[in-house]
Amino acid sequence: MVVLLLVIGAVWVLLMGVGLWEVCRCLLTTEIPAAIEHPVRLWVLHCLLQVLMAWGKILEKLRICSMPQFVRFVHDLQPLKTDPAVVVKDLRLGTIPVKLYQPKAPSCSPRPGIVFVHGGGTIFGSLKFYHRTCCRLSKESDSVVLAVGYRQPPEHRYPMIIVDCFAATICFLRSLDRYGVDPARVVICGDSVGGAVATLICQKLVKSSDLPKIRAQILVYAPVQLLDFQLPSYQQNRNVPLINLDFVYQCFVYYLDISPTWKNACLKGAHVPAEVWAKYRKWVSSENIPERFKKRGYKPLPPMPLNESAYLETNLLLDLINEPLLAEDEVVSRLPETCIISCEYDVLRDNSLLYKKRLEDLGVPVTWHHMEDGFHGVLSTIDMGFLSFPCSTRIMNNMAQFIKGL
Ligand SMILES: *[C@@H]1O[C@H](CO)[C@@H](O)[C@H](O)[C@H]1NC(C)=O
Repeated sequence: MVVLLLVIGAVWVLLMGVGLWEVCRCLLTTEIPAAIEHPVRLWVLHCLLQVLMAWGKILEKLRICSMPQFVRFVHDLQPLKTDPAVVVKDLRLGTIPVKLYQPKAPSCSPRPGIVFVHGGGTIFGSLKFYHRTCCRLSKESDSVVLAVGYRQPPEHRYPMIIVDCFAATICFLRSLDRYGVDPARVVICGDSVGGAVATLICQKLVKSSDLPKIRAQILVYAPVQLLDFQLPSYQQNRNVPLINLDFVYQCFVYYLDISPTWKNACLKGAHVPAEVWAKYRKWVSSENIPERFKKRGYKPLPPMPLNESAYLETNLLLDLINEPLLAEDEVVSRLPETCIISCEYDVLRDNSLLYKKRLEDLGVPVTWHHMEDGFHGVLSTIDMGFLSFPCSTRIMNNMAQFIKGL
């Protein structure tokens, strides 16, 4: 008994110490841009996440649970707020858990249907965590929203997120009338990694002829390429919360099961052979980024020469299933009308700018909204009380307006 108490006490002291350390580290290393409204909120949000991740890593070392499991568990502790205007159902499509959001008010005609793929770098986020976002989306756009609870790392790795979201989308497309959805207005939508998956689904569906055609895609700060981590936004927003390159690489470690050893090589482009660069430079290059985005301290850097071992051990990063920006012209040109939302203070910002250019060059209609005070992850703070940002409401309004215009 005494031993047990001592162990619990020691773990407690350790966790508190690490928490305090993380808070100090955040204070010293975090850069909150002057344009961000409510800097203290962002700082608190960032600190909370860093502390949770640090605790999660300790629990992972102690083999109690993995870091992502711990963070998801804590995130899911927040109570589900119900909205009287939206009916929410927990369902399963095949084996995949989904949440279906339908506006309560009767409608004389079928509504738009939205497949929503949540973000969180594959490792974080959940149906419960994104409940606020999906509820608002359904209500504001007067649409039926299907949120997909895909399987996540480290229990389920690459390419589970795509397999599950694709399967759920097919099931949904086959039963639209059951949910009162207009087959001519189905939209695939996602934020962050969910946006990348959303566009991959659209790319896969371009070739199918026996399903209703997707009407549009909405991509909120989606990472659409994993070749170049030295584009302007990666340099400019290196230390801006909520995510930085360390976090991005950690997601690769959990999702793709690649070793942390190769972090520096990958982030400097040494995982990409010269012939791959040569093939894709026309699409992945700072030359395709408008000048006004390069002003804030950007120094062009050539990629490091190939590190053969890094390439061999991380080549899943180059798998085309992780690179929607690099799909063939024949596929990209047939993508549906697109709404792209980007945030100025996001390491991944330039992904949106490059994809926008690629789509426009191939004649796909693009509606683009750039949040001058936005940061990566801001949408998921919607309706989070003290921790929510006005920018999240603006993104939501832009999404709803786009859907209503279809
Ligand atoms: C490749 O990267 C690893 C890890 O960063 C490093 O130890 C190794 O020396 C590199 N190899 C070459 C050929 O640069």
